Amino acid sequence: MEFNRIYNENCLDTLKRMENDSVDLVITSPPYNMNLRIRNGKYCSRQIVKELSTKYDGFDDNLPINEYYKLHSDILRELLRVSELVFYNVQIVTGSKRSIFKMIGEFNEFLKDIVVWDKGHAQPAMAERVLNRQTELILIFDKSNAISRQFSQGKFKRGTFGDIWNISRPTKKSKNHGAVFPEELVKTILENFSEENQVVYDPFSGTGTTAVVSKMMNRKFIGSELMENYFDYSIERLKELDNQLF
Ligand SMILES: C[S@@+](CC[C@H](N)C(=O)[O-])C[C@H]1O[C@@H](n2cnc3c(N)ncnc32)[C@H](O)[C@@H]1O
Repeated sequence: MEFNRIYNENCLDTLKRMENDSVDLVITSPPYNMNLRIRNGKYCSRQIVKELSTKYDGFDDNLPINEYYKLHSDILRELLRVSELVFYNVQIVTGSKRSIFKMIGEFNEFLKDIVVWDKGHAQPAMAERVLNRQTELILIFDKSNAISRQFSQGKFKRGTFGDIWNISRPTKKSKNHGAVFPEELVKTILENFSEENQVVYDPFSGTGTTAVVSKMMNRKFIGSELMENYFDYSIERLKELDNQLF
């Protein structure tokens, strides 16, 4: 597998070509299934919600709940085949929550810990009597030693690093993508759980934040992104970084 490259394809296709234990760390944020909604106590079909806001430009983000679950389950199984540690960012919204809770059950023996990412400001709820959402979760999976809470690769000293990370997401949406990682979030993970020259994979690369920060911090990266427009933008970001570095 070529390093320092983002592939414009479905991550399951990239994963098929990756060997067992060929990356050191996965950092990723799968689509939130933001546009699957509830009407009269039932999930709405694609057609009904088609006209509603979409977080991604050109990506429906609107899978039926069982398909959305299967996507996670298939990909997470593959991620744990290729990597020891997986940082999997999820947001509990209507279209994702059943799938997330089920995934925590199915993969419980690999789930090592959960970090709460506090974004510093809450998104207003879409309906009456719904909690405003200020946090996302980072599920941390460990292939061989999830029974312990100790990270064999951890770089932090006892008592110095907590499970609530206060990292604000810009209040203004990126003009290129509705749900980008703050660079600070990727930096926090790389600093505390990886070393220089290790290989980092992001199967849902989006605008390429994991790749950009990995490059800044002298890690090798691999990414996969389905949508051509996000893929193109991530290549632009990497080129810009090259220009700054040289
Ligand atoms: C939440 S966004 C990731 C944003 C990214 N962390 C960033 O900083 O820009 C999820 C991305 O996954 C992409 N995607 C959805 N399904 C995919 C698949 N099967 N394979 C690869 N990419 C996929 C979407 O196009 C979207 O850009």
